Amino acid sequence: MRADIPCACARAPGTRLGRVTTTIRTVTSAVSDIGADAVVIAISEGQDGPVLAAGAQRVDEALGGSLLQTLTALGATGKPEEVTKLVSGGRLAAPLVAAVGIGRAGHAQADLELLRRAAGAAVRSLASASVRKIAIALPAADAGAAEAVALGALLGSYSFGRYRAATLPDPELMLVASGPHVGGAVTSAEALAAAVALVRDLVNTSPSHLYPETFAAEAGKVAAETGLGIEVLDDAALLAGGYGGISGVGQGSVHPPRLVRLSYQHQAAAKTVVLVGKGITFDSGGLSLKTPKGMQSMKSDMGGAAAVLGALQAIAALRPEVNVIGYLPLAENLPGSTAQRPSDVITMYGGTTVEVLNTDAEGRLVLADVLARSAADSPDLLVDVATLTGSQVVALGYRVAAVMANDDAVRDGVVAAAARAGEAIWPMPLPEELRKGLDSKVADLANVSGERDAGMLTAGLFLKEFVPDGVRWAHLDIAGPSFNDGEPYGYTPKGGTGVAARTLVQIAQDVAEGRL
Ligand code: BES
Ligand code: ZN
Ligand code: ZN
Repeated sequence: MRADIPCACARAPGTRLGRVTTTIRTVTSAVSDIGADAVVIAISEGQDGPVLAAGAQRVDEALGGSLLQTLTALGATGKPEEVTKLVSGGRLAAPLVAAVGIGRAGHAQADLELLRRAAGAAVRSLASASVRKIAIALPAADAGAAEAVALGALLGSYSFGRYRAATLPDPELMLVASGPHVGGAVTSAEALAAAVALVRDLVNTSPSHLYPETFAAEAGKVAAETGLGIEVLDDAALLAGGYGGISGVGQGSVHPPRLVRLSYQHQAAAKTVVLVGKGITFDSGGLSLKTPKGMQSMKSDMGGAAAVLGALQAIAALRPEVNVIGYLPLAENLPGSTAQRPSDVITMYGGTTVEVLNTDAEGRLVLADVLARSAADSPDLLVDVATLTGSQVVALGYRVAAVMANDDAVRDGVVAAAARAGEAIWPMPLPEELRKGLDSKVADLANVSGERDAGMLTAGLFLKEFVPDGVRWAHLDIAGPSFNDGEPYGYTPKGGTGVAARTLVQIAQDVAEGRL
């Protein structure tokens, strides 16, 4: 193992990642009595203007029945994520009321996502205006709604302060809800929010602080805190073990690669899910160097590995009846003098040889080793998640991820799991006729296709070659959605979004409950 390289950064990294709110208190007192700085209520879009949603009536009563009139005068319509603030004038203990839009009522799953986004947008808006104690009185009559509101609020309160001298204090969140369903809903929301916050923190951390060794150390902390099993292979063990993909991609950097294997076990489990996340802590492209603009957000190229770590953390807390193994192949893709060259031939785990024609198609190389390695775990379901291709972004943009699979039922099951979790993942094909583009003149396979088009699909076809025989497999390409370069929206901040962690947790739950 190599000695740690001292970091020349101005501010030393803390021992923990960012401090973020991941707890929400439940309050059952009358909404007019709650000692908060603001109360959040919801309005929907009615035929003739906004309509008060459940949870808002008590506030309206305290304000003398004038709430809708005031909101209409202020221009509120109830459209999704619209936030309208008004003062309570001493008629509530809280000085401020924020009404957030939830749009038109549709079908149940879409409504839950509207609730998450509304809670997130309201908390984001208030927190950025330095409002600290926020009571949320959104519809929460059943477990699904209560969890959605709590989760949206928690996700919306996220901020990444690691590199700033002055940060706003964390908001203090209160969920105004009562009933036997609330406790479980809050526990689940807190576990999911902590997982997403961890993913966002990891993605937002600069690559000078987060490289394979320090990422593995963060995984070690999570394992120690949650009781997950953990094994870490260092660069020497990877070479000795025949992991030619991870070793080849990592060999150009002074920060050597790692492979982390996390395991969660349930006594009553009948099935095993294996999750694999691409963990390129920085993707310069290697000798097939990216453009300056093209590598600006490439600290996020470990978003898949972060999602797997976050999911395992939440799974350890929620304890579904299934065994889950999480692999994080971690490497930094740099063009050093020891870097792999275009035309190098490498031998992957399991013996397949690959001609590396483009060192920027590195994600598939680190994933392929692990897909092959997973045979030893006898997975009932194998899922990889990766910021894999620019073509994914071209095809689906920044808010929708893609899923490909070797089994249509698995692909549809992942789409359904994502929808339940509140994430947009769209089905994509793996057309057989594109496979021949990956033929190499010298090796078993080339890492890029001779065909220019459908890059997302040829990447999927490359991975498919390494899936053990008979194993049901799905591949999630999250290249676009993992990093938000634009303005915040709903519960999604700028920077790392935390995408895929919630879907992976849902997949584990769906396998546990026989749905997938
Ligand atoms: N990490 C990139 C993919 C990516 C692009 C993620 C944009 C997020 C945003 C990946 O390693 C890559 O560079 N892929 C190449 C593959 C090509 C050389 C076949 C791509 O998609 O351009
Ligand atoms: Zn690349
Ligand atoms: Zn990459």
